[in-house]
Amino acid sequence: MYSKQKNMPKKIHWGIIGLGKIANKFAADLQLADNTLLQGVASRSLEKATAFAGKYNSISAYDSYEKLANDPKIDVIYIATPHTFHFENTMLCLRNGKAVLCEKPMGINSTEVKAMIEEAKSRKLFLMEAIWTRFMPAIEKMISLLHEKTIGDIIQVRADFGFKAELNLESRLFNKNLGGGSLLDIGIYPIFLSLLVLGIPSDIKAMARMTETDVDSFCALLFDYESNAKAVLESTFEVNTPTEAFIHGTKGTIKLHRRFHQSNTITLFKDDSETVFELPYVGNGYFHEIEEVNNCLRNRVNESSKLPLDLSLNLATLLTKVQTKIGLQY
Ligand SMILES: NC(=O)c1ccc[n+]([C@@H]2O[C@H](COP(=O)([O-])OP(=O)(O)OC[C@H]3O[C@@H](n4cnc5c(N)ncnc54)[C@H](OP(=O)(O)O)[C@@H]3O)[C@@H](O)[C@H]2O)c1
Repeated sequence: MYSKQKNMPKKIHWGIIGLGKIANKFAADLQLADNTLLQGVASRSLEKATAFAGKYNSISAYDSYEKLANDPKIDVIYIATPHTFHFENTMLCLRNGKAVLCEKPMGINSTEVKAMIEEAKSRKLFLMEAIWTRFMPAIEKMISLLHEKTIGDIIQVRADFGFKAELNLESRLFNKNLGGGSLLDIGIYPIFLSLLVLGIPSDIKAMARMTETDVDSFCALLFDYESNAKAVLESTFEVNTPTEAFIHGTKGTIKLHRRFHQSNTITLFKDDSETVFELPYVGNGYFHEIEEVNNCLRNRVNESSKLPLDLSLNLATLLTKVQTKIGLQY
């Protein structure tokens, strides 16, 4: 889609809901994208919205999410609230005719995600889960190496994501009402990688340790596949772990360096030699998913081919199965 000015790609007008940590990093990367405007931001506090708008050149600042969803100048809204609000915030935007980029996990369970997808499809609106990892140059390289069968057939994926978080029962990480727990916050990245690389497992083993707020502070997963490949995955708020990923094949290994979900470096181990690929991301790394959304909107495509809605639904289905296995209920 081009604007009336000669051959200029259409300017995409963004809005942001929920002005916390990630919204700041995302807004900084919006400034790096061509023909992209931060049209409006919304917070529960006008003071916070006004300060955020000033910092990131937003045209409007709203003290309610509804007002932002009603702004006719906005094309697409980025949802950056805690997990338990993704469903209601996304539905609000879709019902007001806005395209949506929703932070991960798209919903708290697969029932929510299914309903969000149905709403977007019935309204012919764009919807995508903000799994920025998918658009990183390092992941694109990994995918092309796998397509070329450089490491043969995949026999194992091994990925961990862990950091020591101070126990704060009110924080987003531990508060059940905000969708806390390591599985949904960071375990989603190893699981996403396994899904991207190996597809849907035929069997799942899961083990967790729960906090006094009844969310998981540790979750270990073993996935089995019809091909007989295995995935060994882990998430934890209890200790700092390497946060690396390895794709082992019959002819070699690909390593995604720390932290693998935003890796700038991958190493290919093959035939007793190592090849290192330096693949730096732009800005804070959110630039790439922003470009994907902008391109989809300009091409009037309602779903990203790189991160289709079926992939998000499969991811949510897997997360829900794990939740059931470890007794995690929201
Ligand atoms: N892609 C990534 O790299 C990445 C990294 C970190 C987090 N995330 C995801 O981004 C989302 C937000 O994470 P964050 O770390 O930015 O969280 P955060 O700093 O706590 O910000 C969340 C924002 O949501 C809004 N909010 C609405 N209702 C709320 C409530 N009842 N309690 C607390 N906040 C509420 C608040 O904004 P207002 O006060 O302005 O309304 C708050 O600032 C989560 O889904 C998380 O998984 C993604």
